[in-house]
Amino acid sequence: MTRPGKSTTDMIGQVVAVILGLLAALWYFGDSEINLASLKGKRVLITGASSGIGEQLAYQFARHGSHVTLTARRQKVLEVVSKNCSLLSPDNRTHHVIAQDMEKLNMTKNVVDQAAAMMGGLDLLILNHILPHPIEPFKAEEYDLELLQRLVDINYRSYVHLTKHALPKLSDSGGRIVVINSSMGTESAVKGIAASGQQRVQRWFKPASPAGTAEAIVQAVVNGKDELYFPWLEVRPLILLHSVWPEVVDMFIRFLAVRES
Ligand SMILES: NC(=O)c1ccc[n+]([C@@H]2O[C@H](COP(=O)([O-])OP(=O)(O)OC[C@H]3O[C@@H](n4cnc5c(N)ncnc54)[C@H](OP(=O)(O)O)[C@@H]3O)[C@@H](O)[C@H]2O)c1
Repeated sequence: MTRPGKSTTDMIGQVVAVILGLLAALWYFGDSEINLASLKGKRVLITGASSGIGEQLAYQFARHGSHVTLTARRQKVLEVVSKNCSLLSPDNRTHHVIAQDMEKLNMTKNVVDQAAAMMGGLDLLILNHILPHPIEPFKAEEYDLELLQRLVDINYRSYVHLTKHALPKLSDSGGRIVVINSSMGTESAVKGIAASGQQRVQRWFKPASPAGTAEAIVQAVVNGKDELYFPWLEVRPLILLHSVWPEVVDMFIRFLAVRES
């Protein structure tokens, strides 16, 4: 009996790799294309929809035939985004805007009820708004405790309030909640990133484009994913490594900080 030569084994390996690659591509793209059609007619409430990722999410959902209600504080900007959504909608549908400040927690119920009334129900609640705050070393003597209260109310408590008010409607429709977060806000390398200063770190971890991020979020929604890390390579390995070996990640970030300073 003769053994297959190295070139034969290599060739079999290459053919198997190509077949697996094609199957993976078919699974990834085929599935998404079919599922994107499932967004048609979905009733979507997007917070923080006047700019950035929220605005781009509105365009994505509108393009795929969803009905969107946009909320943020700036009414005029929201109206422009809403008009753009209508132009992108396959049926030229009219979308809705609700100008509201999420710091006013007692108004969150109104936002959800009004959105559901205008769209005839709710299938998706996208929690995305944020009061931005620079990531910098903590200076106790300068720290503004009133700002802390606003940050907690807008970036955390309003999310819980909106969720509470939307849940009965989402249970009726079998809908979902999507929460957008930042890896800068997670445990990952928080100490190191804060110590090194945002600008230096951003040179290494460039923020993804809002449009690309929105596209990835919509794909994750239609594919029923529970979690999405985007861009995966820049975010996930560091978070995973930090959970098992925090010292190494902190050392790495400190090394970057020293190198850049
Ligand atoms: N951009 C990134 O690189 C990045 C990276 C990772 C994660 N994220 C996450 O993605 C989400 C969106 O970020 P982004 O960069 O797209 O934000 P952004 O462009 O700064 O937009 C923030 C949105 O929140 C709204 N907003 C701010 N304060 C508000 C308030 N008090 N009440 C109601 N709405 C308010 C703003 O609208 P008004 O000013 O009109 O109210 C705006 O529509 C955040 O959760 C962020 O953590 C972003």
